[in-house]
Amino acid sequence: MGADPIGASPPAPRAGTEPPPPSLLVIFGASGDLTRRLLIPDLFGLFLDGLLPERFAVLGVSRTPYADEAFRAMLRDCARETGEAKFDASRWDDFAAGLHYHSADLEDPGSYPALRERIRSLCAARGIPGNIIFYSAVAPRHYVSLVRKIGETKLAVPSEDLPGFRRVIVEKPFGRDLASARALNREMLGVFHDGQVYRIDHFLGKETVQNLFVFRFGNGIFEPVWNRNYIDHVQITVAETLGVEGRGDYYDDAGAVRDMIQNHLLQLMALVAMEPPNSLDGDDVRGEKLKLLKSIGRVADERVGDVCVRGQYVEGETGGKKVPAYRAEKNVSPDSFTETYAALRLSVDNWRWAGVPFYLRTGKRMARKVSEIAIQFRPAPSLLFKDTECGQIDSNLLVINIQPEEGIFLRFCAKEPGPGVCVRPVDFHFTYREAFGARSTPAYGRLLLDVMHGDPTLFPREEDVETSWTLLDPFLRRWEGDPGHGLRFYPAGGWGPPEADALLQEGRDRWRRP
Ligand code: BG6
Repeated sequence: MGADPIGASPPAPRAGTEPPPPSLLVIFGASGDLTRRLLIPDLFGLFLDGLLPERFAVLGVSRTPYADEAFRAMLRDCARETGEAKFDASRWDDFAAGLHYHSADLEDPGSYPALRERIRSLCAARGIPGNIIFYSAVAPRHYVSLVRKIGETKLAVPSEDLPGFRRVIVEKPFGRDLASARALNREMLGVFHDGQVYRIDHFLGKETVQNLFVFRFGNGIFEPVWNRNYIDHVQITVAETLGVEGRGDYYDDAGAVRDMIQNHLLQLMALVAMEPPNSLDGDDVRGEKLKLLKSIGRVADERVGDVCVRGQYVEGETGGKKVPAYRAEKNVSPDSFTETYAALRLSVDNWRWAGVPFYLRTGKRMARKVSEIAIQFRPAPSLLFKDTECGQIDSNLLVINIQPEEGIFLRFCAKEPGPGVCVRPVDFHFTYREAFGARSTPAYGRLLLDVMHGDPTLFPREEDVETSWTLLDPFLRRWEGDPGHGLRFYPAGGWGPPEADALLQEGRDRWRRP
């Protein structure tokens, strides 16, 4: 355990109720994509909405040399291009005055005293009382050494010249298997107190994902049917049309299971299936989520092929454009066996869910960008309608659209107007756009705000991460020993390998084509 962060964490008010305390956000790996495309545009969005503290600054740290002005200009261009926060040029300069840059070789211990001095002088200049949030956005192989050096430089603990809190945000992937995740956790907890570590999973910052909670527990009519008696199966899909977008070196070492299933999809599954917590308190919510993750049925090594289909895209077409095969992407090995698609059938071995399959799938270069959770209810007894012209009637379906069309729809049966009885499926639709109009806080922005407030509710804990890896380790072991094992190829622009259909209950369920 690291030094106790005395005075480090003020009691956590719920984010959004009052402005967070002044703070300095130090982003390690600031010349990378994440800072440009997501962190800065989202912070600018918070600034425009008046949600940032008055005394706030960002210090980007990377090896690439930039003067502050050049760093700001680069970020300005990117913020303008990303449509998420409506770019308001007249407010940019006020925001950008708080953006700073420090060039350093983070592997070199000699760089840290100068970095510490820069942090100190920035805090003094901006009137920030030493509250520092570190954001580790460096390549995962540098995490351990970065954390150690922060510890060695005494940056992780409050000091006379830098009092205030210390928090650290760690970008996924948090490890690449159970052993490495444990080792990383050990290193982190050697320097930081557990309450200071925020493992970020940006899906949990999405408005629609948070709404899952309200939808389930804020309404009286869904919980009674939210179980094995009424639900036939659940499909969780996160499909992307994008390929690896210049991240070939990271992705080729990770693959879809590590990149998406271990974190985003398992977290979604936990939110769909968990029991109601006692309160909205971070510990209560995370405790229930962990209980659920722990009740997901373990898959024996020899059964991996029965419950998982993985694939890799070959060339094809998305959005009317020809796209190359995964193996032809930059920084991807030409004979790579890394999966860009994975579909899994999991079970939840508890009283509520016994016997209900949970199907998870994710893929790159799929036909459509869509993230959704589909709850398929059991069919009604169709006795009454079996002799009508429509014969079989569809069962009810509830779909929670996480993106891009944020909303929920419920499919039910209605009588088609006209003589006779013909039953047709129709949909009730709710969309955020129509109901609320306003743009929601983007995911990273929301989570950064939570860290400033010291609210850990939406951040997976060490045990969540390790439990997810425990579940996936048999899969990774299977493929490590035999990298091409069961790998199927699918054309870019489709719905993945057809073999994935075999995971579903034979002749009954189908993967949705949203
Ligand atoms: C990231 C993955 O965590 O999530 C990427 O590393 C993926 O590979 C991204 O593209 C998807 O996030 P979103 O919010 O665009 O659906």
